[in-house]
Amino acid sequence: MSSLKWWQTAVFYQIYPRSFADGNNDGIGDFKGATEKLDYLAALGVDAVWLSPHFPSPNWDCGYDISDYCNVAPEYGSLQDFKTFLDEAHKRNLRVILDLVLNHTSDEHPWFVESKSSRDNPKADWYVWADTPPNNWQSCFDGDAWTYSPERNQYYYHFFMKQQPDLNWHNPAVKQAMWDAVRFWLDMGVDGFRLDAIGTIFEDPNLTPHTAPINLAELRRLSELAQTPEEKELKEKHWSDMFKYQWGQAGVHELMKDLRSILDEYDGDRMLVGEDDNIDYMGNGDDELHLVFNFPLMRAERITPEHIRKNQEERLKQLAALSEVSGWPCNTLGNHDCSRIYTRFGSKLHGPELARLHAALVLTLKGTAFLYNGEEIGMTDYMLTDISQVKDTMGSWYYHAIVTDMGVHPDEAMLRTAEMTRDKNRTPMQWSSNPNGGFSPAEANTWLPVNPNYKDGINVMDQEKNPSSLLNYYKHLLRVRRESHALIEGEQISLHDSAKDYVVFLRQSAEQTVLVVLNFSEQTLNLDFTQEVRNAKMKSIFSSAERRTGEVMPKFKVSPFEVFIAEVVRE
Ligand code: NOJ
Repeated sequence: MSSLKWWQTAVFYQIYPRSFADGNNDGIGDFKGATEKLDYLAALGVDAVWLSPHFPSPNWDCGYDISDYCNVAPEYGSLQDFKTFLDEAHKRNLRVILDLVLNHTSDEHPWFVESKSSRDNPKADWYVWADTPPNNWQSCFDGDAWTYSPERNQYYYHFFMKQQPDLNWHNPAVKQAMWDAVRFWLDMGVDGFRLDAIGTIFEDPNLTPHTAPINLAELRRLSELAQTPEEKELKEKHWSDMFKYQWGQAGVHELMKDLRSILDEYDGDRMLVGEDDNIDYMGNGDDELHLVFNFPLMRAERITPEHIRKNQEERLKQLAALSEVSGWPCNTLGNHDCSRIYTRFGSKLHGPELARLHAALVLTLKGTAFLYNGEEIGMTDYMLTDISQVKDTMGSWYYHAIVTDMGVHPDEAMLRTAEMTRDKNRTPMQWSSNPNGGFSPAEANTWLPVNPNYKDGINVMDQEKNPSSLLNYYKHLLRVRRESHALIEGEQISLHDSAKDYVVFLRQSAEQTVLVVLNFSEQTLNLDFTQEVRNAKMKSIFSSAERRTGEVMPKFKVSPFEVFIAEVVRE
């Protein structure tokens, strides 16, 4: 049917290993549990899994501080358990990509332990060292970016936490060691990598000081208090001023080319997706990353028709302009770093309807789609109430910074921390209405509390039984997508560009044309496509509202918040 690669037609499902499925009842997700849930994923209708870090880690940053790149965290199982997971996924035609963290390691990684042990050991130059802090750079997680190491009587640089020292990628030995790890997993059969934080790999060689007039804690506080457009603009300016010398610097393209050439040595179209929205990292379209995320789509307070159209127009134009091969889009609205879609983009009155619209948006726009575990059942953010529950170190650091240095009352600080910490969107998957949401047995102490709304139908088992649940809606939509040439590979043509309440576009391939209508309003729409589909009929293939399947005319009504997909049949 199509000459597209698997990663272009795929819907990816992000598994956050700690919270996905607990197979040994210890309150922490693991590979035994995840393997048992592969049938669930196959039945859901996704094509691939992105696994957040599963490597040994002291967990200061929930696995993004890796202490061994070629192994499995003991709490998740053994290397054999990983292999079983991979094989079982492949048996079900599910591809698996891993998270590759290049910018930094854990401070407990043997490379760093050796590097900090003296100034002249073989790995002395594997990290970024200075005799005194050369500038005022901040870490984006915990204050000063330079931390003192008494062993060397020197400072090391870290863009993230002090437990995440930055590797020195100018040193060829670092590259060699990391590429060995990449080959280790490719040899085992993984299908690719999601590349963590690639923009942070290199720093300004002149070490130019930042010019923001405040430090990180003050900036975070200012950001959460910003209300007016002027305050919001100022906060954006400060963020940019604070980090512009530590982000997006020269060197990344060469590195990505190098990595790409390794993947291209392997069969099976292994792929790379960058945690970045910068299309430049796709190189000429064929020599760096296969995909970068369309983060601008989710960088909004609300998902409005105007925002969607503007985003798509810009994005598709930029992708089409790549020099060799036209770039392929990659859409998502959520992941483990941000507030859950249902909470963030929902509303008190229309949460269920908006959840359906948002899912339809990601699954009908042109491009690869990424879903985050739990969004298919409408999981919401869960606000922690006590600082002792906080596992995201960025959160506990912030709490202490504003209580101690800024005199914020602990109650207010806790509220703010609960909102800013990523724990709220990482709580365990809700599998049933049994205690602990069926994630772990009642007596287990889960690593983060389970959101109690598992008792209110926000769980897999209840939703599987309910034909009109969000879960069954996702399954249905995924099936419609899978069966539609146009939705998978078709060009996207925006219609009714000035409509305030709804988005409508055609997806058009050689074999099929479909029309997608997303009504973001409480109004019933009377739409007329006589002009656009002259001499054609439209056949409904999907609707989130009560609607007969079968033929419809080019003029029709769309219910409030309806998702409507019709095939355009020309005669
Ligand atoms: C981006 C990851 O998504 C995030 O969870 C992590 O904290 C940072 N990179 C640092 O690795």
